[in-house]
Amino acid sequence: MHHGLAVRATRWLSLAALCCAVGADKFDRAADDESHRSLRAAASRDQFDRLRLQHPGLRRAKPRTRSAHGMSPEAALELKSKPTPRATVDRRVALGNSTMPAVLYGTAWKKAKTAGLVFAAVKVGFAGIDTATAKKHYNEAGVGDGLAAAAETVWTQSKFTYPRGHDPGEAPWGDATDPAERVARSVRAALANLKVSKLDAFLLHGPSTEARRSGKMTEEDFATWAAIARAKRDGLVGAIGVSNVDATLLRQFLALPDPPQIVQNRCFASSGWDYEIRGICREHRVVYEGFSLLTANRDITAGGGPVAAAAARLGKTRQQVVFRFALEVGMVPLTGTTDERHMAEDLGVFDFELTGDEVAAIEGAGVL
Ligand SMILES: NC(=O)c1ccc[n+]([C@@H]2O[C@H](COP(=O)([O-])OP(=O)(O)OC[C@H]3O[C@@H](n4cnc5c(N)ncnc54)[C@H](OP(=O)(O)O)[C@@H]3O)[C@@H](O)[C@H]2O)c1
Repeated sequence: MHHGLAVRATRWLSLAALCCAVGADKFDRAADDESHRSLRAAASRDQFDRLRLQHPGLRRAKPRTRSAHGMSPEAALELKSKPTPRATVDRRVALGNSTMPAVLYGTAWKKAKTAGLVFAAVKVGFAGIDTATAKKHYNEAGVGDGLAAAAETVWTQSKFTYPRGHDPGEAPWGDATDPAERVARSVRAALANLKVSKLDAFLLHGPSTEARRSGKMTEEDFATWAAIARAKRDGLVGAIGVSNVDATLLRQFLALPDPPQIVQNRCFASSGWDYEIRGICREHRVVYEGFSLLTANRDITAGGGPVAAAAARLGKTRQQVVFRFALEVGMVPLTGTTDERHMAEDLGVFDFELTGDEVAAIEGAGVL
């Protein structure tokens, strides 16, 4: 009798443990999904935890990287004593032996509205667009239609996305399993979607999950990167880069024979606006592109504080101050606005300047 009870209790406990494990995995994946952007856009670890607790379905979600949700005390001290040197602000920035636009229009999450918004963005004055081959978040063919309708020369950037970033059956490589073939087919798909013979830039959307977990590039990362570099040598792609990367992995990419020329990261004020990665980029003459500058930093732009103070002094919007700050610390900001008035505002950041004190105060606002 006792033995029977014990067996049943053990079985029940195993089942409960299994359910928890499956649940945890499900919630981690859920947090990984772009539909949980509010959670991922949390400006600080505290805010992340608060949001997580407000949504029962996200209780087990984990922050993705240290750099995305904070910085070490040493790095924070360094930021205080060594703020980022001011950059010369111009409408184009150096990229290798060439240049690229200083502000990019981001095309994620626009679905059927993509073509119309891209057309509008080009007409308002955006000279560069960011997209990706992942249909889950981008309508790259719509971007191509918008560009064709606008009939202007625009700097184009797309991305290779690992399988985890595609919905089933939607990867542009069909049934290919070889990383080199997957990259080659993705590049061809992007060229066809955007109706161009060469992409100005092509990025790895993010290192493999295993690399992010272990801090070491995997065979898949090496093979994928080699194929991306090959596309550059073949003249199909101008510059190459990597997105969603932390300092440990970025240093490994930079040690490769064809190192990245661009980094594109979500930029949290709580990490000194990705202070550490931006520093590495400056050291290696890599262009740093920052996204979610507004959505990941709502508590920095809301209420009082240095962004609001600079906006009041200059008679500009807080959003414009954030984009101007980004330019003044040498970033290429992305904006994904869906509002034509905001498009003009986000581009209207070349006719005013922040003071050195304002730049330093904004850079440290989420950290110090
Ligand atoms: N590599 C990656 O993994 C990755 C991930 C995410 C994003 N991205 C890229 O980055 C791009 C931008 O994404 P994001 O996360 O920064 O932005 P986003 O999600 O497109 O959001 C921008 C937000 O800011 C608002 N906004 C923009 N300008 C404004 C202004 N002047 N005044 C008031 N509100 C303003 C927009 O609202 P309105 O629409 O009302 O203006 C929108 O809510 C994406 O489209 C994509 O290309 C890349």
